[in-house]
Amino acid sequence: MMVHKEIFKNTEQWIQKKFSGDATGHDVWHIKRVVQLADKIAREEQADIFICQMAAYLHDIPDEKLTDDIDAAKQEVLSFLDDQGISDDKIDAIWKAIKDVSFKGNHTTPETVEGRVVQDADRLDAIGAIGIARTFAYGGNKGSKMYEPQTDEQHEHLAYRDSNKTTIYHFYEKLLKLKDLMNTETAKSIAESRHQFMEDFLQQFYTEWKGDDC
Ligand code: ADP
Ligand code: NI
Repeated sequence: MMVHKEIFKNTEQWIQKKFSGDATGHDVWHIKRVVQLADKIAREEQADIFICQMAAYLHDIPDEKLTDDIDAAKQEVLSFLDDQGISDDKIDAIWKAIKDVSFKGNHTTPETVEGRVVQDADRLDAIGAIGIARTFAYGGNKGSKMYEPQTDEQHEHLAYRDSNKTTIYHFYEKLLKLKDLMNTETAKSIAESRHQFMEDFLQQFYTEWKGDDC
């Protein structure tokens, strides 16, 4: 196996090529932030740091939004890891940590601690100031409206990926739920202030919308 540093470099280059041009919040900086968070949480939670970092780098490759062929994406990931000279049991552990990460409108708890770490890292990047920015970027990209007063009841009937929902509604269907869905204590504690920042943002948003501050 190559030294870890070299594998990380190759992986980052591979990811960079794959995600160049993505405007839905899946740019390479999202990946880098998730790697950084996964590394921090893995150390606190005594998870395997190499597995967590590799899974964090690759976690968005088999995403249903980015590919319509999950099996092909899986084969691509496995063969990339094999090319890096990584052993079969480690490849297996990395894949296990990747496969249950995505939210997709419901919650799946990954079976390994490494999977739980990477899922937490990905979710932390979906909340707080960065989460707010990504959400509006995603909504704009899909042509969603920012906000429409009193349509929450109508929203509840729409599918998770339906683009007729407003971006503010996404806070209620996902972002505000994430704090309580964190798997690890480390992520729960990082989530606290990020969650509070979103609550404050929403209050200020409604205040300005109604003109209550003028
Ligand atoms: P992740 O990569 O964290 O699994 P997704 O792939 O679901 O997240 O989405 C990428 C980003 O876009 C996240 O910040 C997510 O919260 C946001 N997003 C997903 N669906 C919507 C939506 N319908 N409206 C606005 N933002 C969304
Ligand atoms: Ni992600």
